[in-house]
Amino acid sequence: MGNTACCQSEANDGVADAHVDAKPILESTMPAVPFISGGDTEQERVYNVTLSKSPGQKLGLDVDYMAERKVLPIMHVTGGIAEEWNKKCPDKKLNSGDSILEVNGVSGDVVEMLERCKADDTLKMKLCRCLTYEHLVEDLEKLVRRKECGPILVRLSWHDAGVFNGADGCPNAAMRLTGGGEHAFPANAGLPQVAIPLLEPIAAKYVPLMISHADLWTLAANVAIKAMGGPWVTTRFGRLDASHHSEGTSSAAGRLPDGDKEARHLRDIFYPKGFDDKAIVALSGAHTVGSCHLDRSGFDGPWTEDKLKFDNTYFKDLLHRSWSSETTRKGNPQYRCAETKTMMLTTDMALVNDPDFKRYVIQFADDQKSWFSEFDKAWVRLQELGCSELRDVL
Ligand code: HEM
Repeated sequence: MGNTACCQSEANDGVADAHVDAKPILESTMPAVPFISGGDTEQERVYNVTLSKSPGQKLGLDVDYMAERKVLPIMHVTGGIAEEWNKKCPDKKLNSGDSILEVNGVSGDVVEMLERCKADDTLKMKLCRCLTYEHLVEDLEKLVRRKECGPILVRLSWHDAGVFNGADGCPNAAMRLTGGGEHAFPANAGLPQVAIPLLEPIAAKYVPLMISHADLWTLAANVAIKAMGGPWVTTRFGRLDASHHSEGTSSAAGRLPDGDKEARHLRDIFYPKGFDDKAIVALSGAHTVGSCHLDRSGFDGPWTEDKLKFDNTYFKDLLHRSWSSETTRKGNPQYRCAETKTMMLTTDMALVNDPDFKRYVIQFADDQKSWFSEFDKAWVRLQELGCSELRDVL
């Protein structure tokens, strides 16, 4: 990660890369690199194939069948009429990693699609290039690196899951639905306007064919954490999307924390969700990446000097730097380090002002491995709050 010659920040909404070199490079002289694997538009990605079997001839496609899926990913082209087709029509070549979307008018039902492949002599198939879990992870990594948007993707997943109150409010991507509810919560400011549009080109390809929005937000955060140098957190799948804003939670009160409060507030928010002091400190360490934005939360500035690096600097800085209180231009109280110009919220400072929290700040500042391990446990629990029957593979 870090600043490479070919990155732009998430504040710049365009999809094309912007070089940060002093000398501008004309877009027309840059190679057209697709943003999304398989092509940026549905037209580029989707293709049609007609295969006709003679008696006894094999189809020659190994597919990865899983009943929960809506598509059949091609594992290998093993010969038969598939290989003949590839020789005849190289521009519509069947490749491993492409997925079958439809067979003879049947879509969404992989059992029936497989049956058609076995039983029918002529197969009219619709396919999508590069439609697998591996391509999805690759596309998310590319997004995180090109747009330097890892931190806001982490915040999106946390706020989707963080409205759980012990009974309801599991991650269901309700925030993407306008009309009220989570979309309009002041605590979510910036997420509907910035984070969700950033994911839109990827969602357009993979949702709902492969993944729900809620699972996509979860996976995107985990890919971002890894891309920024953090641990690879395992994602499980099966979160259901809300289809109307009313299926989200109607009130933000008491569900998401306020940055201008003390230790007691953190416990009031996190204990009902099932987190103890150690988990609260471990989760708060995510503020090692990203920043506060005046126009979103009214707070201002990054927590650490390298806001795109997921390491334990946050805990070290909390303990070893000197923090003075200040008021932002929006009237919010916060703390600033004069040397680094980085900031802390009142809730961040609460972690060193409260002795029960502070012992974990010391532990995680001394030992990054132990932070990664505690963060991993607490973060998976957070992302799975209120979810049942999640599965290991997509
Ligand atoms: C402990 C209580 C917490 C409070 C009071 C809090 C508050 C905030 C605030 C005020 C912002 C700035 C939003 C903006 O202006 O753009 C923010 C950003 C952020 N929060 Fe938290 N947060 C808390 C916990 C968490 C947790 C548990 C996570 C994840 C595990 C997290 C991850 C982030 C990230 C990555 C950002 C940066 C987003 C960006 O750069 O756009 N926060 N948080």
